[in-house]
Amino acid sequence: MTTALPSPDLRDQLAVDLPAAQQPEWPDPVALDEAVSTLAQYPPLVFAGECDDLRDRMAKAAIGEAFVLQGGDCAETFASATADNIRDRVKTILQMAAVLTYGAGLPVVKVGRMAGQYAKPRSKSTETRDGVTLPAYRGDMVNDFEFTPAARANDPQRLVRGYHASAATLNLVRAFTRGGFADLRHVHDWNRGWAATSANHRYDRLARDIDKAMRFMAACGVDFEAMKGVDFFCAHEALLLDYEHPMTRVDHRTGQLYDTSGHFLWVGERTRDVGGAHLDFISKVRNPIGMKVSDKIDLDDLRRTIDLLDPHREPGRLTFITRMGAGTIREALPEIIKATQDTGSLITWICDPMHGNTFESASGFKTRRFDDVVDEVRGFFEVHAALGTVPGGIHVELTGNDVTECIGGSLPILDEDLNKRYESLCDPRLNHQQSLELAFLVAEMLAERAG
Ligand code: PEP
Ligand code: CO
Repeated sequence: MTTALPSPDLRDQLAVDLPAAQQPEWPDPVALDEAVSTLAQYPPLVFAGECDDLRDRMAKAAIGEAFVLQGGDCAETFASATADNIRDRVKTILQMAAVLTYGAGLPVVKVGRMAGQYAKPRSKSTETRDGVTLPAYRGDMVNDFEFTPAARANDPQRLVRGYHASAATLNLVRAFTRGGFADLRHVHDWNRGWAATSANHRYDRLARDIDKAMRFMAACGVDFEAMKGVDFFCAHEALLLDYEHPMTRVDHRTGQLYDTSGHFLWVGERTRDVGGAHLDFISKVRNPIGMKVSDKIDLDDLRRTIDLLDPHREPGRLTFITRMGAGTIREALPEIIKATQDTGSLITWICDPMHGNTFESASGFKTRRFDDVVDEVRGFFEVHAALGTVPGGIHVELTGNDVTECIGGSLPILDEDLNKRYESLCDPRLNHQQSLELAFLVAEMLAERAG
């Protein structure tokens, strides 16, 4: 159990005097202190042993013995943390995972971008609409999206609300993935239903192949009843240090620090400076950790990052989530991978095909093309095949709902559809249909790789 509260000592150790990018300015230091102390008293959301388990699985993905699927909202919101939304997101991830498992012939490590993804880095600290300028929306854990001065004011009580929303989400995730909802037979039935529709005709063959494999398993006496639960992990960007620090606890078994706000934490593209507070923070916790890597990264910095985050060269410890755009990955990724190869660190490589492919559509929406998303993943597989390295997984912004945020897919969303159901408060997500389509296409890539 990881229950020790952060002692004043531990708080000092975490609160270093390093530049911390993208942190909100809290107007009232007393209110902030109260919120942080409250969080520090609350129970951990995840446990050290679970994080260790995930680290072992990430290590398997690094050597091609597992494949990682990370997926969920760009920005979770308090209002959208409903039973239906959570169920549908988990369902989408389970459906994708079933197809990927078959394609890869490998276990799929299921990780929700959930239960803590409430803070966002922003390129500008203010937003102007019709001549009115207000602080930018930084995620529900900081302020509210509504464009009024009161809503946009940063409120540290939101850190506490974020904890509760994350606890409720995790509770439901644990119930859904343990209680029979994850039964492979149901998940496969959902996929068959999906692939049998006319738009998805192209994928029906793979769905039928899985069906045959399921019947074969049944005939061999596989106990499907015993396979009703799956292991499901949660991850978010470790952005708000005023949330991550008080959630960091000492593991009684080992005396080591774990960030108990999520199993896997990553540092984003805008906060990954080698001399900055974010990398310093995740270097001190034992969770499996990740960092976003774009083509803008300096290769010496990348090597310094490895020394900082994975000093003991421990498999599963460090994941690089690459995000550079479909047009860039084939050219830029090889140098990045090569730069890590003589460090002795076994990196788990994951492709985020979303964040390098964002653009503003003619109708003014921030969007992404489904074809670009697929093409970036394809480029990722090609580069790894050429170098003899391992494509370890994908990291996708998705929802289980029928939103219209990304363009394309076999039930195509057009530019003029974007205004019909654009619900993301931040980046555009693949909807349920597009997510499954991506999974079937990546399953084909995995099957090809497996030969
Ligand atoms: C994100 O994952 O939502 C994000 C902001 O990504 P990046 O740090 O890669 O820009
Ligand atoms: Co995003």
